[in-house]
Amino acid sequence: MRAMNLKSKLELLKGVYIFAEVNEKHLEDILSHCHERRYPKGEIIVSENEKGDSMFLILEGEVKVSLVSEDGKEIILSTLIKGDFFGEMSLLDGEPRSANVIALSDVDLLELSREDFLVEIVSNRHIASAILKVLSKRLREANDRILGLMSKDVFDRLAEYFQKEAKLKGRELIDGSVVFERLPQSEIAAIVGSSRETVTRAMKEMVDRGMIITSGKQIILKKNFQKRLIERHKEKYG
Ligand code: CMP
Repeated sequence: MRAMNLKSKLELLKGVYIFAEVNEKHLEDILSHCHERRYPKGEIIVSENEKGDSMFLILEGEVKVSLVSEDGKEIILSTLIKGDFFGEMSLLDGEPRSANVIALSDVDLLELSREDFLVEIVSNRHIASAILKVLSKRLREANDRILGLMSKDVFDRLAEYFQKEAKLKGRELIDGSVVFERLPQSEIAAIVGSSRETVTRAMKEMVDRGMIITSGKQIILKKNFQKRLIERHKEKYG
């Protein structure tokens, strides 16, 4: 990982959601217990079923949390970005890692050992309550995904995913549309629970309906995206 001075590390730590309410003195203390790690794109950071002795905070980059089904298909449970954390579940319940965590880009992380996690983090009221909030949010998202998988077609799931990505990572253009960088189609398929071919078809339909423009790794979500989505729904389901 590139050498960083204490000040810039502190700035990065302040951007981690669970530390929002923590004073600088305590952040410095936490920092002194963390180890900096850099993983290149594609590297496995955490493997399912392994023993877990530490948790990670994302300072830069993006990771995917995934499982592999019995027939070898990858299922992406979530993607996490700068300011998020992972690896806390094994520390909290003592069970093996619940999923794989793999770098989607080069990532800079801070690693915190089990002991320091329990002493520095869980014992702090503000951090513990922030962690509970994040875990509740993840459960809500998982519930939404189960509902989506059972009740929505791939097109609607893809539309929902694009809207979420645009909100999270997008930049608004003058005409009100939003541009964001997309993941490879195979990764998108693993996120929306479909095949690459079906995702390609759904994306083509979105282009034909004037909902998106694709350009290399970028997707532009047009301003009328939601309106067109409702129109399609009426057309299909009355
Ligand atoms: P742990 O089980 O220690 O290792 C894998 C990590 O992936 C886990 O801790 C969580 O931090 C993260 N994780 C597992 N399931 C989800 C999920 N559904 N959404 C977001 N993150 C998850």
